[in-house]
Amino acid sequence: MSNRKILVTSALPYANGPIHLGHMLEYLQTDMWVRFQKQRGNVCHYVCADDTHGTPIMLKADREGITPEELIAQVGKEHLADFTAFGVAFDNYHSTHSEENKYFSSLIYTRLRDAGHISSRTITQAYDPVKEMFLPDRFIKGDCPKCGATEQYGDGCEVCGANYASSELKNAVSAISGEKPIDKESVHYFFNLADFTEMLTDWTQAGHLQPEVRNKLAEWLDSGLQQWDISRDAPYFGFEIPDAPNKYFYVWLDAPIGYMASFKNLCDKQSLDFDAFWAKDSKTELYHFIGKDIIYFHALFWPAMLKGANFRTPSAIFAHGFLTVNGEKMSKSRGTFITARTYLEHLNPEYLRYYFAAKLGAGVDDLDLNFDDFTQRVNSDLVGKVVNIGSRCSGFIAKRFNNMLSAKLAEPELWAEFVNTNETIADFYEHREFAKAMREIMALADKANRYIDEKKPWLIAKEEGKEAELHDVCTMGLNLFRVLVAYLKPVLPTLTYSAEVFLNSEVHGWIDELQPLLNHQLNDFIPLMTRVDADKIAAIVEASKENLEKTAAPVQAKQFAPIADTIDITDFAKLDLRIAKILKAEAVEGADKLLHLTVDIGDETRSIFAGIKSSYSPEQLEGRLTLVVANLAARKMRFGLSEGMVLAAGGDNGIYLLSPDTGAVAGMRVK
Ligand code: MSP
Ligand code: ZN
Repeated sequence: MSNRKILVTSALPYANGPIHLGHMLEYLQTDMWVRFQKQRGNVCHYVCADDTHGTPIMLKADREGITPEELIAQVGKEHLADFTAFGVAFDNYHSTHSEENKYFSSLIYTRLRDAGHISSRTITQAYDPVKEMFLPDRFIKGDCPKCGATEQYGDGCEVCGANYASSELKNAVSAISGEKPIDKESVHYFFNLADFTEMLTDWTQAGHLQPEVRNKLAEWLDSGLQQWDISRDAPYFGFEIPDAPNKYFYVWLDAPIGYMASFKNLCDKQSLDFDAFWAKDSKTELYHFIGKDIIYFHALFWPAMLKGANFRTPSAIFAHGFLTVNGEKMSKSRGTFITARTYLEHLNPEYLRYYFAAKLGAGVDDLDLNFDDFTQRVNSDLVGKVVNIGSRCSGFIAKRFNNMLSAKLAEPELWAEFVNTNETIADFYEHREFAKAMREIMALADKANRYIDEKKPWLIAKEEGKEAELHDVCTMGLNLFRVLVAYLKPVLPTLTYSAEVFLNSEVHGWIDELQPLLNHQLNDFIPLMTRVDADKIAAIVEASKENLEKTAAPVQAKQFAPIADTIDITDFAKLDLRIAKILKAEAVEGADKLLHLTVDIGDETRSIFAGIKSSYSPEQLEGRLTLVVANLAARKMRFGLSEGMVLAAGGDNGIYLLSPDTGAVAGMRVK
């Protein structure tokens, strides 16, 4: 159908702190859009990286007694683990502290300089005489010149909201050493943004920006563009400026160049054509998803830098608003500053993916995560409407028809109506009107449920001689269910995956290509999603308050799950526990805890990664029996897809695989 070539980025998260749910709004929005583009058949590359340079990162490493390189390596891993667990599927995740980024930063700077867009002059700045470094505004504290509040920082007063120059603070001291800063001169390099006034005036009006962003830019352009200070003095963690020893590029100079660098890194791995996406005359599409706080950098500096250095400019910049929690700015003391990790320890990431989708539009409005609304929407839409159709119909197909669908599509018009909505829904996704897309999909889900309510398969099932009708109604219901799942695929990749396994049929392209499943063998129904448990939300808030007390502690993935609450028999029945035979066990290159197992679980073989290398050598394992959770959603790990989990008991003195008594064979279920 279409053969668009698209490069997509999300803003690069700073490497000095954990990913939180505010960040996730951006990465999930981008991921859903990218997954949609891929499902439509477009070529779409999604790249990102950690933003690793600057004073805060240098000082944080200092405080932790490690090098900045060690800090960013550690944080980079944690960030990527969080994103992956939320289903954010980057095609490449890189670092701004990379060879590629150094190369492109120097190249762009040199081209700008040679074209006359860089100038230098001496400026005076606050300097910490003890720490021997210049102080960015937010590392100077003192009394607010407006309201007198103490302990305010040089970048603004948190009490009265005043903005001022850090030199206006009363009784100013360095936040690092506590010493009184002195004024010191040094030469700085500047990018002459005003050279691009005309170009930016045109560019910002030419359809690359959302209307409200365009208006904001018109104001900025009207008030005149200033020179942009792009250099920082040593000590600084960053790239040295080629012709200026001891001067470094300001972090915001090399950060957006990190988009190019990450893509270059991907091109080298996958033999892609870099120039097709970045050369001046490029015909491909380039989109940056960002938060509204960094519009200035992306809609002014960045296009000007690209233009001045003879590269293409972005096709569009998609800015979004900020996440609030229960109507307020995320707050550490209220327990609403929720890290991605804390969320993941308690709740299914797909709940949040759906919730954001259900509320996101194309504008820059803030989005509120309201826990009651969250619970209600997930439970009523996903569990109550979508999953419900699958579970209502699958039981009869399994019990009465050996999991075989009938040969007849009972209501061709209803099927056609579901499929024909595809352009409307595609249009909403394309224009980032996710909430409208979800509303449309849920309206279809209502129709599917109404169909089942009208046909009442549970009554037909009790009547003599109505086998064929029962078969047709449930087959129709499951086919409608499949269309809904296909529409939700960009938003709910894990649920979709489980549904595809159950339906024994993968959704490849867009819904216009979908054919009904008839005379088709299904697998056993897999529970797709459970209701949101309100206790878990309370636990998240509690844990987020606790995070406050141990903010310095590095985030570490839990090796063993916490002790769980009491469950009832239906919870237990959700587990598909099976005896598995280990066919093959291999060490995993680059992973010191993992073994890669190939196991036979009766009707299929699975590939599973298990953290048991410290206690077992691969040879010991081949041929033995153990237990696996067969219906655990597959998890994409750095080394491959893990399709289940082997059960082991662990403690301080080792890890022990569980095994069945003699006589058991692969494929038996635990009851
Ligand atoms: N490092 C810069 C971006 C460089 S891009 C060349 C940065 N990092 S950040 O970690 O502070 O933010 C990363 C992205 O997350 C930004 O787009 C930012 O707007 C977004 N968000 C951070 N907090 C957010 C909320 N509370 N809500 C929504 N988005 C938020 O800025
Ligand atoms: Zn004040």
